[in-house]
Amino acid sequence: MTLSQRMQTLTGGGSDGWDVFIKARKMIAAGTPVTELTIGEHDIRTAAPILQDMHRSAMGGHTGYAMVPGTDALRDMVAERTTARTGVHTTRDNVLITPGGQAALFAAHAAACDPGDTALYLDPYYATYPGTIRGVSAVPQAIITRAEDAFQPRAADIDARASGARSLLINSPNNPTGTVYSRATLEGIAQVCMDHDLWLISDEVYDTQVWEGAHLSPRALPDMAALTLVVGSMSKSHAMTGSRCGWIVGPEEVIGHLITFATHTTYGVPGFIQDASVFALGQGPAFEAEVAAPFLRRRAIAQRVLGSRNTIGMIPAQGAMYLMLDIRATGLTGDDFANALLDHHHIAVMPGESFGQAAAGHVRVAMTIDDAAFEQALRTLADFAEARARAA
Ligand SMILES: Cc1ncc(COP(=O)(O)O)c(C=O)c1O
Repeated sequence: MTLSQRMQTLTGGGSDGWDVFIKARKMIAAGTPVTELTIGEHDIRTAAPILQDMHRSAMGGHTGYAMVPGTDALRDMVAERTTARTGVHTTRDNVLITPGGQAALFAAHAAACDPGDTALYLDPYYATYPGTIRGVSAVPQAIITRAEDAFQPRAADIDARASGARSLLINSPNNPTGTVYSRATLEGIAQVCMDHDLWLISDEVYDTQVWEGAHLSPRALPDMAALTLVVGSMSKSHAMTGSRCGWIVGPEEVIGHLITFATHTTYGVPGFIQDASVFALGQGPAFEAEVAAPFLRRRAIAQRVLGSRNTIGMIPAQGAMYLMLDIRATGLTGDDFANALLDHHHIAVMPGESFGQAAAGHVRVAMTIDDAAFEQALRTLADFAEARARAA
């Protein structure tokens, strides 16, 4: 029996980028304490009132098949929130509820691309992007962004690769870089999409974590609502990563087709999860700010601790829960640095190479442990980098 090419080539033949993470998990399982700064998961759990609401819903009988597009209540809530945050009139017919942002990314690419079509994305990228594109049998093509631009994409670079492509995937606030795309960047991207008839797939799962400037959804730019598929999620904004609840916002007609696609793939999201999501969204922006607050605090800690250390360059994170650290002065690759830091100091960070070529020589630090432990881990990391740089 042979597996499909799609399955065999999902990671493009290389590593899926999670090697250091898996090594750290194995060390933990073997009893070695490891400070984990790898994965984008809050150090708080889903808030008790949200879980109580989930329990109430499940006990009340909402455990059967839910409506495939999502419950009316949740689709309305997502539509209202989108209208309020972006100013673009949005109704439930513009919304499909999905099992997390990841399923939304997959469905959006399935809607945009036929097998063999080119799907553009920006490097550095969230580790699943190329595999998601290959998963719909499209061909991923990365466009490099540059550390010297603080990883703001250049429209001209995208334009140069756009001919014949079907879609462009962007992510602001960005994982792994923390970059928040400026209005000028997004306007340039929008122009390229219009010039080349590209679907713009806008991953906005970190839209509540903006530390500098403001979040702008490209769907709000002139004429872009017809071309943009926005990916959203409860995971990061409400600390509900395990609940697997996300959405796509897009043109009514596309959502209609995506509902048919969902019928044949996921068959919807559990009703008690959707009810709890309605409850969570009902807590409003103050609750979202509370969930985001620790990352802003830890970003300030990082600025204080690393600001005076010459060996490590910090791209100032404008958003999201990560720091991108430039460790090229150590003479090590991101992979070697991350492996050595794990071996010698039991601190796990993600090598920049896990996120593509543009982040080589960097490591990504997730700001997802308590403040004191985070500060200590950064000091150890900086001391280690300095020792390596002296030895280089
Ligand atoms: C940029 C980005 N997009 C999408 C996702 C997927 O999120 P979820 O499927 O939990 O909603 C993540 C998760 O880390 C992410 O970092």
